[in-house]
Amino acid sequence: MIKPNAEPAPARGRIEPPTLTAIRHAADLLRAGDIVGMPTETVYGLGADALNPEAVKKIFAAKGRPADHPLIVHLPDASHMVRWAASIPKDAIALARAFWPGPLTLILKRADGVPDEVTGGQDTVGLRVPSHSIALALLQVFDSGIAAPSANRFGRISPTTAEHVHEELGDKVAMVLDGGACAVGIESTIVDFSRDTPEILRPGAITADDIAGVIGRRPRVRGEMGESVQEAAALSHAPRVSGALAAHYAPATPLRLLPAEKLIEEAAMLAGEGSRVAVLAHTVADPHDARLIWQSVQCDAAAYGHDLYANLRKLDASGADFILLEALPASEDWRAIADRLGRAVVGSGAEQDET
Ligand code: TXA
Ligand code: MG
Repeated sequence: MIKPNAEPAPARGRIEPPTLTAIRHAADLLRAGDIVGMPTETVYGLGADALNPEAVKKIFAAKGRPADHPLIVHLPDASHMVRWAASIPKDAIALARAFWPGPLTLILKRADGVPDEVTGGQDTVGLRVPSHSIALALLQVFDSGIAAPSANRFGRISPTTAEHVHEELGDKVAMVLDGGACAVGIESTIVDFSRDTPEILRPGAITADDIAGVIGRRPRVRGEMGESVQEAAALSHAPRVSGALAAHYAPATPLRLLPAEKLIEEAAMLAGEGSRVAVLAHTVADPHDARLIWQSVQCDAAAYGHDLYANLRKLDASGADFILLEALPASEDWRAIADRLGRAVVGSGAEQDET
């Protein structure tokens, strides 16, 4: 028998354990202009060489995302910022010192040479140093910026495992580096430093209070002035942020948020009408009603956020006609989760066509 003298090329889209060989291979694929799925501590990213416009275009094609939505450039460390940003306010430097590597994205005036494909043609660029060890290893081997949005199809739930990326994008990505389940589970806090006052464009694990603790003043928070999610997203001065669209992060099953005292009553009513009902609850105990798919989660923002997208995916795939969510506590540490759930409700199920 004649044996081939080379291993067959691995299938596109394969999930690879994060060995040094796989990390080097991922960096080579990026250098060759391909796109790869990569873990970060927030959610999985869909990475491309941020200086290669043709590679960046592949991200938009794979996601089905409008080409004018800017991407975050991931950097190996803060010393790379000067190549991407034209100016860096001292408060932005203070935040980078305090929270990088970590779940914080800084929007800064962009430097010359940052491709329009990355910035969506805007005069700003989003920068972040992620803390996931595999992301950092890949960035260090690659030694330049990796543009990476969340590795989901546009408008859908962000992936928090390598398997989710595979479900979302299949062989549209060259490979997926497996870094396990993401520690944070929701996307980074985005702080805009391109205007007079720092403003949180997207809440995340790093809160307005955390930021105030470092820079000595509270940033503005989009959505805090009493506007609804829809109004906040429509603010005319807002730069384009797809994470700020009213309908986003959405399962296909209709989602509803209900106060704790209404949860069981409403679930039983819908089940009584013959609907299949899934429930995500953090204080209301499982009533052990066989007609309900009941998912209990810890009443703790970090734990809730860690599993949020995986739970939404699971309930979405459960065959339920409705997903009922117990309304969240109003405190600051739940803000990012409330933000994502609000958008998921608007984007979910039948309401999707209206937005
Ligand atoms: O945690 C995260 O930030 C993840 C991981 C992979 O790093 N990334 C992520 O990327 O969530 P994406 O593209 O799904 O969301 C980033 C958001 C988008 O809504 C984008 O519009 C916004 O950041 N963004 C990027 N650059 C911007 C800029 N120059 N000005 C305003 N918004 C920007
Ligand atoms: Mg996203």
